Amino acid sequence: MNRLDGKVALITGAARGIGGETARLMVEAGAKVGLADVLDERGRASARALESTGGEALYLHLDVTSEAEWEAAIAALLARFGKLDILVNNAGLFLGKDIETATLADWQRLSAVNLTGVFLGTKLALPALRDAARDSPHGSAIVNLASTAGLVGSTQDPLYSMTKGGVTLFTKSAALEFARKGYRIRVNSIHPGTIDTDMGDQVLATRARNLGTNDIAAARAQVIDRLPIGRMGTVTDIAKGIVFLASDDAAFMTGSSLVVDGGITAQ
Ligand code: NAI
Repeated sequence: MNRLDGKVALITGAARGIGGETARLMVEAGAKVGLADVLDERGRASARALESTGGEALYLHLDVTSEAEWEAAIAALLARFGKLDILVNNAGLFLGKDIETATLADWQRLSAVNLTGVFLGTKLALPALRDAARDSPHGSAIVNLASTAGLVGSTQDPLYSMTKGGVTLFTKSAALEFARKGYRIRVNSIHPGTIDTDMGDQVLATRARNLGTNDIAAARAQVIDRLPIGRMGTVTDIAKGIVFLASDDAAFMTGSSLVVDGGITAQ
């Protein structure tokens, strides 16, 4: 199940967090992986760690808001691995401000990464994904990191929620466009709940501030109290879902939203 033998993947925001764990599980599943990020030192260390286990991994500097950097990163990946089967649009920012305090500059920075980055990645990786799909029984795959905040409103971050809602419907629209054109590229989104990462810490800090305290432990307890599964999610919980969506086991899924949230949006 969930094998990626012979596949080549490009994961954005892969220096750490969910993207880093996805790279690890994809290498474990047999893929060759490009780890893209703006945190060069950390990204190189993550790629080296994967190579030291016998995997094939390549660090690529890529600010997802830059068209030129996307072109260069994809060219470097193709030069090293020869093709691209899987794109994971994972790089993302959280803002943690409400409508009254967020500025236009905040919105422009947030939407540049969370929305423009996903659009550019999809557009610029498309030719390589199409080429690889021709030689693959079940085609190529894109997995977009949305959020539960892209399905229901967010109590902490309305602008983040706006970007993730956009990712949810862009995913479905891209799936439909590529199917209509016969490209054989499946496009799905994954929707994590609150996950223990650097971004998860920012979410908890925002919640604490909105509770009128600096008490992160109290914010964490509040989150866990509302979670049917009774714990925060781990990067592995999400990376497993991403590997599944990228694999041929999800061959009949496109335009779909996989919710991995400990049950928070079920209530
Ligand atoms: P993280 O903050 O730990 O990692 C995000 C990575 O993206 C970092 O390595 C960062 O350097 C990179 N990045 C940021 N801006 C970039 C840019 N312009 N170009 C390239 N890379 C860039 O965050 P985490 O938690 O691993 O999040 C990954 C994805 O999952 C994001 O899209 C996030 O919105 C989504 N998500 C996370 C949740 C959580 O609670 N942690 C919940 C729901 C969704």
